[in-house]
Amino acid sequence: MTTAVPFLLSLVLVLTNGQYYYQGLMDYLENRFLAIEDRMLIWHEQSNRYNTELRHFKKQTAEFIKGLNQDHGTLRQDLEGTGVRVDRVEREMDYIETQNPAKPCVNQADRMVDVDLEVKERVKERKRGGEEDGYSRVLDCIDIISSIRAMKILKRMGSPKGMWTKDARTSKVYVFNGTAEDTVYQFSSVLDFSSYPGVAHSRPIRLPSLWSGTGCAVYNGYAYYVMEGADELQVIKYDLANGTLADSAVFPVEVADHRPVYSLNPETAVDLAADEEGLWALYTTRESESINLAKMDPDSLDIEQMWDTQCPQENAEAAFVVCGTVYVVYNTRVPSRSRVQCVFDVNDAVTNEEAPLLYFPRRYGLHASLKYNPQEKQIYAWDDGYLILYKLSMTRKLMV
Ligand SMILES: *[C@@H]1O[C@H](CO)[C@@H](O)[C@H](O)[C@H]1NC(C)=O
Ligand SMILES: *[C@@H]1O[C@H](CO)[C@@H](O)[C@H](O)[C@H]1NC(C)=O
Repeated sequence: MTTAVPFLLSLVLVLTNGQYYYQGLMDYLENRFLAIEDRMLIWHEQSNRYNTELRHFKKQTAEFIKGLNQDHGTLRQDLEGTGVRVDRVEREMDYIETQNPAKPCVNQADRMVDVDLEVKERVKERKRGGEEDGYSRVLDCIDIISSIRAMKILKRMGSPKGMWTKDARTSKVYVFNGTAEDTVYQFSSVLDFSSYPGVAHSRPIRLPSLWSGTGCAVYNGYAYYVMEGADELQVIKYDLANGTLADSAVFPVEVADHRPVYSLNPETAVDLAADEEGLWALYTTRESESINLAKMDPDSLDIEQMWDTQCPQENAEAAFVVCGTVYVVYNTRVPSRSRVQCVFDVNDAVTNEEAPLLYFPRRYGLHASLKYNPQEKQIYAWDDGYLILYKLSMTRKLMV
């Protein structure tokens, strides 16, 4: 028994020690766990903060991008506005250049203005040809436009719409300023016209009535224009040399039946055009939708023949006739680049597929009128108040 007591005592001691040891381990582990928990709590808080910050950042970025998009929009609008202004400035520059041509280039630059001389030489050459004259004249007219080679702005007039042209026979230049006026200004040459501002150095000619639109034509010393009456359209032929009414005739389309010949220039009821073959009239009726062509006798004002060109009236701004081929020029309501998009040849020698797509050199406004001069192969254009010459390059029609 006595030996069992110390044994038991030491056992209890060992057990107690073991318990202490165990307790210590537990305490240690608990502390570690607590520390880990604390740290996890911190991580959690931090990740929460990061999330919030990220969300905030995302929001800010979205707002920033939205702002950027808006800025981009306004910038684009600004650029477009600037583009229009640059166009205007360019136009002004062209005009100023025309007024003050650079000296060393005068000879080159005035070639388009000084066409009278060129034409005289050509006529002389033709006269030298003698008997071949009649023959070559028939052959002369197999031309089709291949491109618009050059342009030159000659003057600025007050009115956005109007017409200017040159009589192929007399070389005199006529300016029809506006769409419902009765005073034509006559200049003795293109050089005279371009040398002075406005209508200075011109002879005003008063017509017996108002012209309507920009459909007037000058041919062989006569002005031809269409007067819109209450129920009929009248073609007036006026002698520009001695200032007398030479003739008048009723145009065979009733006022109630007719529509403006080009939708973008609604003032023009009938567009008269002169080319190497004579006098033409372009018009549109309610039934046809497309532009019609009539060949007119310049002496008697009789209509000799009529065609439906199949060229739509919609979005057309003007047209001109070269060598019996009608070229209809189209644009958009907000003016962009004018282009020839429909062609009609009375001899069927040129089809729309063969005709080149012709773009006018630069974008200004809307062409109010385009008048072809057969001797110079040039177009006299009125573009938003600017009077422009376009020089054409020609090629031969494919004869079948
Ligand atoms: C042309 O017409 C416009 C508008 O009717 C006018 O303001 C301008 O003075 C005219 N120009 C000339 C040279 O007569
Ligand atoms: C005007 O000229 C034409 C032909 O050139 C002539 O027939 C007419 O009689 C002339 N008129 C006047 C009033 O001189």
